[in-house]
Amino acid sequence: MVHAPSWRIVAASLFLVAGAGHAAAQDALSAARGPGHAAIASANFLATNAGFEVLAKGGNAFDAAIAVSSTLAVVEQQSSGIGGGFMALLHRASDKRDVFIDARETAPKAVDMKVYVGKDGKPNRDVSTNGPLSAGIPGEPAGLAWMAEHYGKLPLSVSLAPAIRIAKEGFQPDKRFLGAIDDRKDTLARYPASAALYLPDGKVPAQGWTLRQPDLAKTLERIAAKGADGFYKGETAKLLVSASREAGGNWTAADLEAYKVKEREPLTVDYKGYRIVTAPPPSSGGVAIAEILNILSGFDLTKMDLAHSTHLTIEAMRRAFRDHNEYLGDPDFVKMPLDMLLSRHYADGLRATISPDKATPSDLLPTSMAPEPGMHTTHFSVIDADGNMVASTLTVNLEFGSAFVAKGTGVVLNDEMDDFALVPGQPNAFGLRGALANAPEPGKRMLSSMSPSFVLGANRTAVIGSPGGSTIITQVLEGILAFVDGKSASEITAQKRYHHQYLPDRVDVEDGVFDAATTKTLVDMGHVLRNRSPWGFMNVVTWDHRTNTLDAASDPRRPSGLGKVQ
Ligand code: GLY
Repeated sequence: MVHAPSWRIVAASLFLVAGAGHAAAQDALSAARGPGHAAIASANFLATNAGFEVLAKGGNAFDAAIAVSSTLAVVEQQSSGIGGGFMALLHRASDKRDVFIDARETAPKAVDMKVYVGKDGKPNRDVSTNGPLSAGIPGEPAGLAWMAEHYGKLPLSVSLAPAIRIAKEGFQPDKRFLGAIDDRKDTLARYPASAALYLPDGKVPAQGWTLRQPDLAKTLERIAAKGADGFYKGETAKLLVSASREAGGNWTAADLEAYKVKEREPLTVDYKGYRIVTAPPPSSGGVAIAEILNILSGFDLTKMDLAHSTHLTIEAMRRAFRDHNEYLGDPDFVKMPLDMLLSRHYADGLRATISPDKATPSDLLPTSMAPEPGMHTTHFSVIDADGNMVASTLTVNLEFGSAFVAKGTGVVLNDEMDDFALVPGQPNAFGLRGALANAPEPGKRMLSSMSPSFVLGANRTAVIGSPGGSTIITQVLEGILAFVDGKSASEITAQKRYHHQYLPDRVDVEDGVFDAATTKTLVDMGHVLRNRSPWGFMNVVTWDHRTNTLDAASDPRRPSGLGKVQ
């Protein structure tokens, strides 16, 4: 925690007297913060430190976000990278503007649904998650260049410098990184450039190994020198296209040149005096979170025991995920009934279908399965001295994405094509089933669960998000509820989790989330509980406007993370 000089405390407090709820929160957000006071929480200490390095060079939160993202692309490649994409929520203090940066991958022009369907009519998971056909056109390089051009204060040559340095000099991958290599070793071994990078001597390296990435450093240097053109045109583009096509992929130079970042209006929902600013489509996260909060706002959860408040939350999750599967896709391609899904009346109707003490079997809800979500995707949160804020979730989809490194670039390509509903009604790697709204089409963005969010209250603000596939949505929801209940950043990241996503009809529970009596009551209500190893990697920063103090916390389940205030 950092304490600001007292005049700022007074200034922040005056705003609180003048207003209530989110209006006051907006005012509090515009109160100047002291120089040098910033908070960053990310999945890797090198990335958090890279953010502070760039702030010290005169950068703002957006420059820091570029430094954190690009460093994660070097030191946490199993989760995100410049061969992938991201979704970020920005708050610019100078004009109080909230904007959603959509740097999600797109399907290449030659996308052909048939290649993702096996002879048995089921999804061919090998094609949709491994190798170049599983990769969408990356969005991260364009997104970082866009942030630098439109929101940052520093050139990319400064904000990318820590990532370039670490790629050149090398670093020692942590246990998670090495574990992810082990998980993906068979697929990495299929592709010579992947094997050369991650399997020295054909083996999974032991702890203490130093990973140097000269090709990736050069790729980043081209972005530093030329912005997005340094990736989507010229040498990098040529290398990416030829590597993809040589290995059976379908990318063209035109696909790369056509990639565009989209700025979108964030979704907002009000809940118990807080305003939640969150991700719009092509993320499904914000819609689902808004729907769940709208349903829950008709209950007073604080007056119930844990079993009953959890039951109602699970039932709200079940209903929101049903809609997720049915309606959502890329807004540039499909019309979605967002007014309905986000309306209080719709939530009233859904609430009326919830029994106070009986689980609704998902089969009874009219419609259109879930393996373990692994630890891929990553999230970081930043607040700077001026009150600028960034919540950014980045991904290559599964661990090491497609496991395909494009020769000469050091870039591991994503396997985001699996996030499309490749065979409508059939589950993807997260057990999510989609409808035609999320069917692949040339240039279309695949639906995401990424849910970077701000929670704005009169007294406190949180910047929040997590990786975890479909569980991102329920983790962020549970984080928002905890923050509204007054919990601190470290309490939010540490709290035990549960998850329901409509199908499969079961509640995934982290060991210790419920006591024996609560578990028994939930089971008696008809809920099927399944214990699962801990999931998520939540990185949260908070700002208490009453004391003008910042706090930062990284998920204690994953020791590589770092939440820091300085
Ligand atoms: N690739 C995971 C997601 O975007 O939800």
